[in-house]
Amino acid sequence: MMRKLIAGNWKMNGTAADLGEARDIADGARDAGSDVTVMLCPPATLIDRMAGMAAGTPLLIGGQDCHASQTGAHTGDISARMLADAGASAVILGHSERRADHGESNGAVRAKAEAAVRAGLTAIICVGETEAQRDAGEALALVEAQLDGSVPQLDPSRLVIAYEPVWAIGTGKTPTADDIAAMHHHIRGWLTGRLSAGGSEIAILYGGSMKPGNAAEILSLADVDGGLIGGASLKAADFLAIVAAAKMK
Ligand code: 13P
Repeated sequence: MMRKLIAGNWKMNGTAADLGEARDIADGARDAGSDVTVMLCPPATLIDRMAGMAAGTPLLIGGQDCHASQTGAHTGDISARMLADAGASAVILGHSERRADHGESNGAVRAKAEAAVRAGLTAIICVGETEAQRDAGEALALVEAQLDGSVPQLDPSRLVIAYEPVWAIGTGKTPTADDIAAMHHHIRGWLTGRLSAGGSEIAILYGGSMKPGNAAEILSLADVDGGLIGGASLKAADFLAIVAAAKMK
């Protein structure tokens, strides 16, 4: 069985005052055992400090975005190489908030993923439909189109897919267990079809209002290999409760 990955996305939250929560998560990650990988993706300003704090613990650190180039005249941007230099081992790419706020296309996400993998990072590529798309019965097709456009044909061991229905993010709403299982099954089929044997090794995370109260059920579903957690990753107690739920699966 695949090791579960529980990754926290702090989004645009967190200053030095919040590093105590990260320290508690790093300490708690020691109890995660060999079946669960624990990761935090803080804002870029905290990566270096959090990575220093996580050294010697099993906690991994990731970024939330990178540029498609490794250096150059791109004011305000951060490259994958810089994230790796700061202590990150992964980066979230194509999150729906970046697709919406910054107009990131599938092609842009794919170029960033290629840059991330080339810099030695794991690329966590996000896909997911809006509520209108789900209501119109287009969720599977939309996610498939996002995979077609966003996932590079590179080392599958450096790729993770996160299925995050846009309407479930920060809303307290989640799809039914059947809908999550159907989507993850669909994504697994796409991955094995496109990347053959390597596609069965790629972790598929669920994200969107995952909390201590629903984590056990969601993480028990077939082809749900972990979670990408927003709000509930900001407090060590909540996040570690989700890690504990993953450990039981
Ligand atoms: P919430 O867990 O706050 O719904 O956020 C999910 C998410 O967007 C993680 O990337």
